[in-house]
Amino acid sequence: MSDAASPISVTSALAARRSVRAFQDKAVDPALLRDIFRKAQRAPSGGNLQPWQGVLVTGDKWAEVQQAVTGRIAMGKAGHEPEYDIYPPAITDPWESRRFGVGEGLYASLNIPREDRSGRLKQFMENYRGFGAPVMLFVHCSRIMGPPQWSDMGMWLQSLMLLLTEAGLATCPQECWAMYGKTIRDTLGLDDGQILFTGLAIGYADMDAPVNNWPVPRADIDDILEWQGF
Ligand SMILES: Cc1cc2nc3c(=O)[nH]c(=O)nc-3n(C[C@H](O)[C@H](O)[C@H](O)COP(=O)(O)O)c2cc1C
Repeated sequence: MSDAASPISVTSALAARRSVRAFQDKAVDPALLRDIFRKAQRAPSGGNLQPWQGVLVTGDKWAEVQQAVTGRIAMGKAGHEPEYDIYPPAITDPWESRRFGVGEGLYASLNIPREDRSGRLKQFMENYRGFGAPVMLFVHCSRIMGPPQWSDMGMWLQSLMLLLTEAGLATCPQECWAMYGKTIRDTLGLDDGQILFTGLAIGYADMDAPVNNWPVPRADIDDILEWQGF
């Protein structure tokens, strides 16, 4: 990660970005965020629709969202308001193994074994305080949008994450918030014509935290890419 004044290469930003799950208690300058969001508008989109929309929260408003969602969590499964299937309901390999693997790596970094269900749940619940991030971005779009526009939202999100990395900030995309979509939309004043895609925790990483220091594997390119006619 670099200082805002010294640009880094796309390669370095990609290599440095990781999902950070422990943040410092340090505020983020709104002017810096505004500059980054302005730059991220260069993200491409089919037909230049730019379907992405967001709400940035900090301070009391961020606390209000956390409190509202905590109330829903206390209701157990009855409190769930999923905006969409976070994973395919009939997920198979290789995707299921990758998902399982990243969970195991994360809990291993924290020495929380599989038998310690309450320890794992407690760590999972850290999601709903944004892992201590001072700023949360809620990404949403109009419900009329389909898969192509959702991929546009992803390109915007990655553009943002790389720009934030360049500025020395850290992020964690968090689709877990979509489990409580209506509560969040109501708290943010978004109407039912909008759908909540994900949260993005934003702040300064606590790079001493073990949870931010384990290798997250990737598939080999030969598993995802075919070369034809070369
Ligand atoms: C759209 C999106 C939603 C995600 N939601 C969550 C989440 O709710 N909680 C979490 O801890 N990580 C979440 N992640 C982080 C992924 O687990 C992570 O990107 C993946 O394991 C690769 O690790 P890396 O980001 O550290 O490279 C999400 C990532 C994306 C792109």
